[in-house]
Amino acid sequence: MIQVRGLTKTISTGTHRVEILRGIDLDIPKGQVAAILGPSGSGKTTLLGLLAGLDSPTSGSILLDGEEIAGLPEDRMAELRGRKIGFVFQSYHLIPTLTAEENVLLPYELTGGGPDGASRARELLASVGLAERGEHYPVQLSGGEQQRVALARAFITRPPILFADEPTGNLDSENGSRILDLLFDMNRRGGSTLVLVTHDQELALRADRRITLRDGRVVADEP
Ligand SMILES: Nc1ncnc2c1ncn2[C@@H]1O[C@H](COP(=O)(O)OP(=O)(O)O)[C@@H](O)[C@H]1O
Ligand SMILES: [Mg+2]
Repeated sequence: MIQVRGLTKTISTGTHRVEILRGIDLDIPKGQVAAILGPSGSGKTTLLGLLAGLDSPTSGSILLDGEEIAGLPEDRMAELRGRKIGFVFQSYHLIPTLTAEENVLLPYELTGGGPDGASRARELLASVGLAERGEHYPVQLSGGEQQRVALARAFITRPPILFADEPTGNLDSENGSRILDLLFDMNRRGGSTLVLVTHDQELALRADRRITLRDGRVVADEP
């Protein structure tokens, strides 16, 4: 369960103050698939980063399963992220000096892992259609392929909550559908909560709920 109350984010850059989020209240129950929609610049990426504890809010509260994460010290936040959260970035954030397989394996090793890591990484790469690409480095992969590696990496710890920023943004329809099947399968089988920023109509329609942001506020919230 994710409970957000009065969440704001303001950034001051010298002379300017940008109010990115202007008071968000949101409850996302465990196991829900929530799509976050809204025009570019409406605050979607910022909201996702705050919910995942990658950034800290200016004010407000974020409870993950009853635990306040706003203002949590970074070491405790890192521990909680490792236990609970998977994140797929809009810009992938793969590590350039690691192969696809090593990138997928990394979060598993960082959280204690186990001897089955390499085989799990290979299975996940196969499930995103990259069985033959495990030894390749990010620069050797297209944008869509990097996006699929980033998804495989997010799945490896079987996180109870997965945040993904435009997970199908750079995929053709065949790979996009494959990724959606994988996401929804994860939700169904593992009961994981998915919070997805998307412009993808197919994804938005398959979600349990559509939350629309505009100018840092929730302007629609529809089942
Ligand atoms: N670090 C930052 N410094 C200044 N402005 C920012 C920063 N991050 C985001 N913004 C601004 O906040 C607004 C919302 O950004 P973002 O959350 O990335 O929107 P979205 O993902 O919906 O496109 C945009 O106007 C963006 O330019
Ligand atoms: Mg964005």
